[in-house]
Amino acid sequence: MSLDLTILKQQLAPKFALSYNKQGILQLASNTENFRPIYCDFTEKKFLKRCQDKKQGLLKAVGLHKKQGLTILDATAGLGKDSFVLAYHGANVIALERHPIIFALLQDGLQRLNQFSFPRSCVGMQTKLENSLNYLQQDLSQQNIDIIYLDPMYPNRKKSALVKKEMQILQTLLGQDDKADQLLAMALKQKSKIVVKRPRLGVYLNGQLPSYQIIEKTIRFDIYLA
Ligand SMILES: C[S@@+](CC[C@H](N)C(=O)[O-])C[C@H]1O[C@@H](n2cnc3c(N)ncnc32)[C@H](O)[C@@H]1O
Repeated sequence: MSLDLTILKQQLAPKFALSYNKQGILQLASNTENFRPIYCDFTEKKFLKRCQDKKQGLLKAVGLHKKQGLTILDATAGLGKDSFVLAYHGANVIALERHPIIFALLQDGLQRLNQFSFPRSCVGMQTKLENSLNYLQQDLSQQNIDIIYLDPMYPNRKKSALVKKEMQILQTLLGQDDKADQLLAMALKQKSKIVVKRPRLGVYLNGQLPSYQIIEKTIRFDIYLA
């Protein structure tokens, strides 16, 4: 899907600037705060290392360590890192993002993949500019979605060095995902397994206890079985 960047740029000014950097990567910078620009680059060394980690909790949480070819609906795609890791390990991913700027950055990252050799499931990842609250209103049983994955923005912590610069610019642009509880409630109406990524000590979405959890150093995955 091609987006009209001219219109997006007008909507962002004067707080943010959307432009291509010297490497031809679309990036979002802040005009008012000293944030590092954000962009989507799936070819960065650090990210590729993460992709290759077969033991990461995300793969265990969705079950890709045991079963190949799962279909996963990522209902909060953001810059697509988690989606990409899942596709890298063979999942068919449908990634939904509601914000047009974040979606444009994600599209840019995926378009530049063609120059590199990545698994077909990554290059062919489906993306939609869509609010998942609307998407989840449909009956998805015909689409054979095995997993619905949710990673809403974490609740705002007090100004903390722990909030990465990238997260700061995202939080300024997007605010909080205050409908995250509703997303879980709607996802639970589908017949899929639900995986929710949370800060390790964060409250449960909707206050709802998961069926089981996978806990890592700073994050955890809450898994809800239908
Ligand atoms: C924390 S980020 C996701 C990061 C992503 N998992 C990654 O690995 O890059 C959360 C994203 O979910 C998106 N989001 C939140 N609610 C949404 C909804 N109802 N529909 C679609 N996207 C949504 C936000 O716009 C934001 O970009």
